[in-house]
Amino acid sequence: MSDSGEPPAAGAIRAVDVIRNKRDGHELSRAEIEYLVRGYTLGQIPDYQISAWLMAALLKGLSRAETAILTDTMLHSGEVLDLSEFSAAKIDKHSTGGVGDKTSLVLAPLAAAGGLVVPMISGRGLGHTGGTLDKLEAIPGFNVRLDAKRFREVLRACGCAMIGQTAEIAPADRLFYSLRDVTGTVESPFLICASIMSKKLAEGIDGLVLDVKTGSGAFMKTEEDAAFLAELMVETGERMGKKTVALITDMDQPLGLHVGNALEVEEILEVLRGSGPEDLRQLCLELAAWMFHLGGRATTVALGKKLAAELIQSGQALGKFRQMIALQGGDPRVVDDATLLPHAKAALDVVSSRSGYVRAIQCEAVGTACVILGGGREKKEDSVDPAVGIILHKKVHDRVAAGETLCTLMYNSEARAGLAKTLLLQSYQIADSAPPPRKLIHRIIPAVQES
Ligand code: URA
Repeated sequence: MSDSGEPPAAGAIRAVDVIRNKRDGHELSRAEIEYLVRGYTLGQIPDYQISAWLMAALLKGLSRAETAILTDTMLHSGEVLDLSEFSAAKIDKHSTGGVGDKTSLVLAPLAAAGGLVVPMISGRGLGHTGGTLDKLEAIPGFNVRLDAKRFREVLRACGCAMIGQTAEIAPADRLFYSLRDVTGTVESPFLICASIMSKKLAEGIDGLVLDVKTGSGAFMKTEEDAAFLAELMVETGERMGKKTVALITDMDQPLGLHVGNALEVEEILEVLRGSGPEDLRQLCLELAAWMFHLGGRATTVALGKKLAAELIQSGQALGKFRQMIALQGGDPRVVDDATLLPHAKAALDVVSSRSGYVRAIQCEAVGTACVILGGGREKKEDSVDPAVGIILHKKVHDRVAAGETLCTLMYNSEARAGLAKTLLLQSYQIADSAPPPRKLIHRIIPAVQES
């Protein structure tokens, strides 16, 4: 805004003024937000100015109107897919990000096996959290950079496809996302809402299941903050005519036992075979159930869960995953032989110095340890090591003896392993008693009556 409070005339806008306006807590006009998003997407505004604006937006917040304009402008920075050629319901799921949060790799093939179409556009690792695209790229040959034409062909052939934001679809999010990753500007509900909803709405979906994480490994640490973000996104989805539901789920410790790209692929293969850690398996079934319910494949969530369990039991979900890997250029043999995934050269056990119960695991520190090992990025241009990560042997509530292994680091660099080990030792809190149990699913927004 100018000092008079009037929005500046189009053409008179300068990036530095938009940054100052947000820094000073003013509500930005549509013209100012469009100027920033379009200017950055076209390469006309440099990273340093957008970084400064992102930090101002994170610190000062955005109004509902600013968030809606940002989301819409990012959505229309590229093509909005028209998938009306598909008669089946088009339903997707997206998570706000966590540690060991690998459910998308189960859900896309599982939902497709149940007759839904899943046009999934995902992201890379963000901050301390892992990214679906980095996990998929751990599969030798897997191509997440399909253009819109090939994306559609894969969807036609198998009902699901998993790609990243492209130059055609949600290009603004691709650019903002990678800048936020390395500038400490992820943890804003408004920026997260615009990022997630712009790419999801570009997919041409009918419905969306949101997995909003809360706890020490989430961007929203408290349930209240997670509920605020969930409401913001559900409101945005409904405003755009999409059936939208958000599940607030626990991220106070890593999900499952594996953290790290190839390690997580290994673990989702177990889930698709009907085994795997119980928390991960239960969350996959619950999210799939909601996808089936929103997509009209199950009249109740309970029936959706039953359908999901049957599709895993029968091997159909695993078969879909194999088919999707092959269609996206990956080596489908990994489905039956996980030794074909990249493996780290060395392993290092982290042991407990005392006996007791695991009272807490500082989950963000586990994610950061994985980034330090090379499993995530510290700078935009960093490449990710798919093989490294952490295998947890003890989780919250588990009994542990002095000298017993808490977790194992899979690493390729001694120096990095040393740093990660220190962080992991600090992240485990061992006490004389176990803590009260936490629910896996905290809340559902909007609250829905089961019939
Ligand atoms: N996932 C996204 O796609 N964007 C965010 O900002 C956070 C999680």
